[in-house]
Amino acid sequence: RDTAVTAEGGRHMTDASAQEPRPEPATPPDEAELAEAGLLLEVDGAVATVTLNRPERRNAMTFATWRGLARIGRSLPPQVRVVVLRGAGPSFSAGIDLGMFSGGEQPDGSDPEATDRFIAELQEGYTWLRRPEIVTIAAVHGHAIGGGFQLALACDLRVAADDAVFCMKEPALGLVPDLTGTKPLVEIVGVPRALELCLTARNVPAEEAARLGIAEIVTPRDRLDEAVRGLVDSLLAVNAGAAVATKRLLWQAPGNTLEEQCAAERREQIGRLREMFGAGRSAT
Ligand code: ACO
Repeated sequence: RDTAVTAEGGRHMTDASAQEPRPEPATPPDEAELAEAGLLLEVDGAVATVTLNRPERRNAMTFATWRGLARIGRSLPPQVRVVVLRGAGPSFSAGIDLGMFSGGEQPDGSDPEATDRFIAELQEGYTWLRRPEIVTIAAVHGHAIGGGFQLALACDLRVAADDAVFCMKEPALGLVPDLTGTKPLVEIVGVPRALELCLTARNVPAEEAARLGIAEIVTPRDRLDEAVRGLVDSLLAVNAGAAVATKRLLWQAPGNTLEEQCAAERREQIGRLREMFGAGRSAT
């Protein structure tokens, strides 16, 4: 693949559409920060792979993990078009590291404003995954529990191994899911099914997850990486600017009236036509 051309195309397309150009990336986290967060980051041309890397703890996530994810989101190089999230070892993620509940940093809610800010900061580790400039894929195997399930839900697409099990455990622990997961879950399965899944905190196996639309693809465990690679290749084969504009369109569709969505389609298409046929079109 000619990543230079792809990357260049991506930049031109985004600029030409004149909609929310990507901000200058912040400094990426260094090795020590990534290690403290329990994360690995590999950027290879247009593809970034983030690995949850605490296999001995089933990739249980700490506050540092979520801050690390936010930092990765803020510092992604502009050529990146696809981000894959995966877990090292037997599971995608066992959710919050249960040690966090007894650690000193856990807020007790007595200062609502400070607690609100604290949770909002952690949520930033998830919200960037919806940015239109990138398509995000969760490669899920083993357990995706609580915050791990929500991380998979924060991605645009989920590829599940046939041993994957999803579980929204928070209500069983006296909490609500607060890592951005309730909205995508309801968008995918509807309120009644989301209620049933959350309030029973039951395990959802891969095959059922596929049936419910929680996973787009289910694959044998030993072919997960191959299935993800195939999906990434297909995503990168599509015109970069059209992919950005289309993701932007699709994610706003549920919140728009038909009239608003038609107007949004026209707006995006004007950007595409200008890019393809107008005076300022890309040289690539
Ligand atoms: N936090 C801290 N440590 C964990 C967590 C966790 N969430 N999950 C697993 N570990 C640790 C275990 O304590 C164990 O440590 P040890 O080797 O020192 O005994 C090690 O990881 C391996 O765990 P096992 O339970 O032995 O692994 P197994 O593959 O049999 O089970 C499973 C995996 C199902 C994920 C199980 O560990 C589990 O249920 N974990 C707790 C899940 C949970 O309740 N998460 C919170 C959800 S709510 C939220 O995320 C906000």
